[in-house]
Amino acid sequence: MPLAEQLIVVAIDGPAASGKSSTAKRVAERLGIHHADSGALYRAATVARLRRDGSAEQWTVDSVLAAAERVSLFRNETSFEVRLDGEPLGEELHEAAVTALVSLVAKMQPVRNWVNDLMRQSAREGSIVVDGRDMGTAVFPGAKLKIFLVANPRERARRRLLQRLKRAPMDDEITAEAEALKQRDAKDEAQTQQAADAVVIDTTHLTQEEQVERIVELALRA
Ligand code: DC
Repeated sequence: MPLAEQLIVVAIDGPAASGKSSTAKRVAERLGIHHADSGALYRAATVARLRRDGSAEQWTVDSVLAAAERVSLFRNETSFEVRLDGEPLGEELHEAAVTALVSLVAKMQPVRNWVNDLMRQSAREGSIVVDGRDMGTAVFPGAKLKIFLVANPRERARRRLLQRLKRAPMDDEITAEAEALKQRDAKDEAQTQQAADAVVIDTTHLTQEEQVERIVELALRA
């Protein structure tokens, strides 16, 4: 039976800037199945709440959930697109103001329940590659394949900067970014869970295509 007809879930988790989303997207393309990014939902809820007001002291769980109600997942040809009031959200999801506040939103359990329900609903519509922090534990404990991606902080920082600056970053820029990443890791620590049966892939010395290839091979054997 072709892979797309078997209803499989590939869950890819790992810390910030470990390449989860770009890898998950490529793996889904290679397998011919859909991709859904749970981090994008936490980010979209943060964007929705930020549009009401930017001072996080007023951010109660109820007010974040009310904002999140305007967020939906739209199943396109290849992925689940995150929309706010029916409009696709692009670059805004990764703006600094969103990144600074998203951990706060992701710590709210009712918001986690909302994300988890949407992710599970997405998987009911067909085979899927999902990525996040707890996909292989809290959300899809029965996933066919669980991957936990790791890479050393300097390498994660280098990749992130390369993407953002579109040039090779300098040493001191890497040092500052690696520090910022370690602080983000600390904020997200409680939410980041490695499943006991996850395959850990250290991507520090791998190219993106090599990591994609490894995961595709594992998925085809799962
Ligand atoms: O992977 P990312 O940077 O887009 O994630 C955004 C935030 O959401 C980050 O603070 C971690 C959190 N997150 C989470 O708690 N659980 C998930 N399944 C996915 C993301």
